[in-house]
Amino acid sequence: MILKRILKLILILISFTACTVDEEVVNVYTSRHYQTDEEIFNKFTEQTGIKVNTVKADADQLINRLLLERGQSPADLLITVDAGRLNHAKFSDLLQTVNKEELGIELAIHLYDNDLYWYGLSKRARVIVYSRERVVPENLNNYEDLVKQEWKGRILMRSSQNIYNQSLLASMIAAEGEEFALNWVKGIVNNMDRNPRGNDRDQLKAVFAGNGDISIVNTYYIGLMLNSSNSEDVRVAEGIGIIFPDQAGRGTHINVSGMGVARNAPNRENAIKLMKFLLSKEIQEYIAENNYEYPVNNEAQWPELLLRWGNFKEDKISLSELGKYHNRAIEIFNEGGWR
Ligand code: FE2
Repeated sequence: MILKRILKLILILISFTACTVDEEVVNVYTSRHYQTDEEIFNKFTEQTGIKVNTVKADADQLINRLLLERGQSPADLLITVDAGRLNHAKFSDLLQTVNKEELGIELAIHLYDNDLYWYGLSKRARVIVYSRERVVPENLNNYEDLVKQEWKGRILMRSSQNIYNQSLLASMIAAEGEEFALNWVKGIVNNMDRNPRGNDRDQLKAVFAGNGDISIVNTYYIGLMLNSSNSEDVRVAEGIGIIFPDQAGRGTHINVSGMGVARNAPNRENAIKLMKFLLSKEIQEYIAENNYEYPVNNEAQWPELLLRWGNFKEDKISLSELGKYHNRAIEIFNEGGWR
């Protein structure tokens, strides 16, 4: 009798372990720090039965972890908030290629890696913002306009350690050359109201509070603040004007939050299923509606707020090419004194 019970227990245990072994998972290392992603991963699990395990940290930490883990890594998909870090992961041999056919969607050519190691997931525009109260934005059309004498002591900027700014400068180096980029950095430093500090949201708050009049931020932060449950955030965002720079020139600097399959992905197929899901019209619209990023899938409709901000010309330099200029961008920031 006891033997029978033990046998039954063993059988139950075996079937339980078998069940957990069979459970479909995808392990995501992500530096996206937005609420929407949790909800999207839950939707994915609901639709596919594949469980999403996430490790969240900033991209450099995730890349270091992948370097340490190498062949032992459980990571299937790396997601970052800037193509610069994906290029870094690619050249550190941490990613593997995925064919476009596997994804079943055609992205604009500047939004994915030339060698197919990573693909854009959402688009972000880095724009000029100004105080509606104190700035008449008449002569404010390009990033270059910010170095004019009239803005002396009125500019606030985030640190040059920030990848969003590094990519912006890399795009200037690519388009106009190193000397131009260095002069721009020096001009901005000369017009700064204070030493760089804080994140994009902090720049918006400081402009609103009158610590300075102009800054450069990613648009989705304005969208998030406009739709925040915090009434002070809403007030800040309503007091801010937006300019999409360089509309008569090369276009506004954009970047992507993007994704690449990890070199040793134990669940490659599930990673690709998740990529396809993230690129689907439905999820692209969800990201645009809830996080105010621009879709990379052209079939996705823009939500009302993005429509209100309007269509804009974007810089179509390949984000994969931009990787070449990243190290120079960091050096030029240092040379020009932008800390
Ligand atoms: Fe961000």
